[in-house]
Amino acid sequence: MNEAENRTRSDVAVVGAGLIGLATALELATRGLKVTVFERDTPGSGATRVAAGMLAPIGELEFGEPGLLSMSLRSRELYPGFVAALEAASGIDTGFRETGALHVALDRDEAGELRRSMDLQQSHGFDSGWLGPIAARELEPGVSPSLAGAVLVEQDAVVDPRALVEALRFALTEVGVEIIQAEVTGLLRGPNGRAEGVVASQADFPAGCVLAAPGAEAGIAGWIPEEVRPPVRPVKGQVAELRGDPESPACSRILGSERVYLAPRPDGRLIVGATVEEMGFDRTVTAGGAHELLREAYRLLPDVAEMEFAGIEAGLRPATPDNLPVIGPTGIDGLVIASGHYRNGILLAPITARAVAGLIIDGRPGEEIGAASPTRFKTEEL
Ligand code: GLY
Repeated sequence: MNEAENRTRSDVAVVGAGLIGLATALELATRGLKVTVFERDTPGSGATRVAAGMLAPIGELEFGEPGLLSMSLRSRELYPGFVAALEAASGIDTGFRETGALHVALDRDEAGELRRSMDLQQSHGFDSGWLGPIAARELEPGVSPSLAGAVLVEQDAVVDPRALVEALRFALTEVGVEIIQAEVTGLLRGPNGRAEGVVASQADFPAGCVLAAPGAEAGIAGWIPEEVRPPVRPVKGQVAELRGDPESPACSRILGSERVYLAPRPDGRLIVGATVEEMGFDRTVTAGGAHELLREAYRLLPDVAEMEFAGIEAGLRPATPDNLPVIGPTGIDGLVIASGHYRNGILLAPITARAVAGLIIDGRPGEEIGAASPTRFKTEEL
């Protein structure tokens, strides 16, 4: 008997142990399937590791992205239950806090931009309102005294993606999901072309179906047949980490300006993000990136100057031509994809997990992620 024949067959092989792959693996296993996860590196060491963890469907709403809004709002609604289950299973505090977000304009130009964002939010029925400098500083006394105005978005929240990964690893072990550290190099196909598992470390791992969750590598992953590879590209983000006293945090909610955002952690850390750079697969941390983040953080919240500088890292967001994710069946039977979450991977993890499990188990992904169908690029891009 060869090695392949020795392998137990999984119901689902999940390729990629970022937040999307891990959350989906847990949903599938909780619903009774035998799941195996494959990851070349350490789980959560890609974009998840660097993400600030803003759950901000309203504050981060952009013009021209209506399709994103309904899935983002639905996923935000799922978050309290998602983290409560994880925290109960693992005993780990995921850093989920419903802090709200204060978006600050630091000069007249920024005030014009921020008013347009507020108008957009209001046009979708949200009650975001304009705050003058005094009202804004009553909420966040550390914000620059020279601010021109602010908008409070009470519904936005924050979570610590690294803590989420730790909690997920724990919860996955509890439900018997194995995470195999190996690079997937091939897709096993049945006589009718159906995906029937993966090849990793020169061994075959048979599975009932395969979920590709390779983040920013989705567009170049050689094991995904070219005809169904989605048009996903990496967009670099550099993110800095500062440390402060949890007893007297520099801010108590997410702060955003036009050029930077600050996400507080319960342990006193402050995450400063993020550059947006079209640099291919380059993850170099640059002096310019560090300078921009720290300069803009200081402009927004001068107290950051007193905080300990803990470091800066770069991650790669998986972006698509229309900024919507790609979630759903591919043109290959048995091969499902979940990638392209761009700036919203942490926020969209619960809805992605639910949609993929719905697709694999019930044959229906759910309406909320309809706009994310991988087949939308078929004629233009593939
Ligand atoms: N979600 C924020 C970012 O991608 O920078």
